[in-house]
Amino acid sequence: MNVYDSTRMADVLAPLGYEAVASPRGADMVILNTCHIREKAAEKVFSELGRLRAFKQERAAEGGEMLLAVAGCVAQAEGEEILRRAPQVDLVFGPQTYHRLPELVAKTARAGARHEGGGRGVLDIDFPAESKFDHLPEESAAPGAAAFVSVQEGCDKFCSFCVVPYTRGAEYSRPAAAVLEEARRLAAAGVQEITLLGQNVNAYHGEAEDGGTWSLGRLIRALAEIDGLTRLRYTTSHPLDMDDELIAAHAEEEKLMPYLHLPVQSGSDRILAAMNRRHSAADYLRIVERLRKARPDLALSSDFIVGFPGESDADFADTLKLVNEVGYAQAYSFKYSPRPGTPAAVEEAQLSEAVKAERLAGLQQLLGAQATAFNAACVGRDLPVLLERPGRKPGQLVGRSPYMQAVHVAVPEVALQRLTGALMTVHVEAAHPNSLAGRPIVDVGGVDESAASPAPTALTAPTARITA
Ligand code: 5AD
Ligand code: SF4
Repeated sequence: MNVYDSTRMADVLAPLGYEAVASPRGADMVILNTCHIREKAAEKVFSELGRLRAFKQERAAEGGEMLLAVAGCVAQAEGEEILRRAPQVDLVFGPQTYHRLPELVAKTARAGARHEGGGRGVLDIDFPAESKFDHLPEESAAPGAAAFVSVQEGCDKFCSFCVVPYTRGAEYSRPAAAVLEEARRLAAAGVQEITLLGQNVNAYHGEAEDGGTWSLGRLIRALAEIDGLTRLRYTTSHPLDMDDELIAAHAEEEKLMPYLHLPVQSGSDRILAAMNRRHSAADYLRIVERLRKARPDLALSSDFIVGFPGESDADFADTLKLVNEVGYAQAYSFKYSPRPGTPAAVEEAQLSEAVKAERLAGLQQLLGAQATAFNAACVGRDLPVLLERPGRKPGQLVGRSPYMQAVHVAVPEVALQRLTGALMTVHVEAAHPNSLAGRPIVDVGGVDESAASPAPTALTAPTARITA
């Protein structure tokens, strides 16, 4: 979501003459787009602001000025604190007000510096009544082969550990027509794969043109009809919102990729209840079973939290048991991090760092082994890979398999540009814990273009949009 938001901030700023640069050195503006989900992410903002102060001073010494802005959920949650701890900051704004960037930049320019070399301290962390989506301009930069489209924001679930309902606000779904229009525009610009985004994306209930409300499953069906789009994905989902229409879409919509990130957080019913997840481990397993019936090759991913307040050895063992029962293609796991303002943060039974670290290592070992096994099972197979960008090594492109695995593909240097953005069949030759490697199954070095769909003309990999 933050990557999407950063891209949209660049779109809002483009008419003012700003364009993305690779380094903060010499930039006219630096926006840190921040994440508040765990303490580590939030603390990183302050160390980064220290580093950026040097660039701001350097710019001032040259007689120029660098506007230093903090955006995103840390800005939303800790706006005043940022201005107090980091007086070099000029502007702080939350995730729901970045459509106002032109006026915020003008307001910041009018505000005097609070002290020499210091910031201007402008703050906008409103939750405006109007949706930012009604005010965002069209995309300013050519997209790559894969793009994000935000369809839903905020969350009403209030899991007891999570800051999202407070930082992103109440659940909101964009009207279906606006999503379809954005998707058609992206497809016309050469995008083949769209990932629908939302903090709780399968709670989507967008207003439809017929006056009704569309679920995510219904929206996916409409998106699948767009010519040029070949792949659809969505993230992140809550098990309780996995409705019949969405499960049916997995069975029937070929463009919907066989990969699903469906966080469960814990395998213990006691902990799930304390987390206010409102489902049991058995409920989750039943949903997984229905999904696999709909799409037998579905690759599953999840989020896990270890060391939630009160988690016993037996609770943790239940999490390992659930992981063994499901068998994940990949997953993310975290130590519980108390977040200010959330109910779990004030629970007395907080666990020690040592216990959290030990459990995380145990869980990651199991998840790592499952991911390695999943990847190893792909060796020898021919998989369609959407080649998104050059790899780190020369003569290499990187793309995604249907199952979301990163695939490094060796192609002749002369064909690199032509094949960037192409969807092609790759013979998988090697598996690593987090990626695969392979080669195209047809000769791509010569004139044979039939193997790949034509690469769109304007292809730049989406890298950092606004500096830093
Ligand atoms: N501590 C640790 N992990 C958290 N997550 C959300 N809040 C916390 C927290 N307080 C994790 C959840 C969520 C993912 C995005 O981040 O697993 O699904
Ligand atoms: Fe946070 Fe996801 Fe729970 Fe919403 S459903 S409160 S975003 S963990």
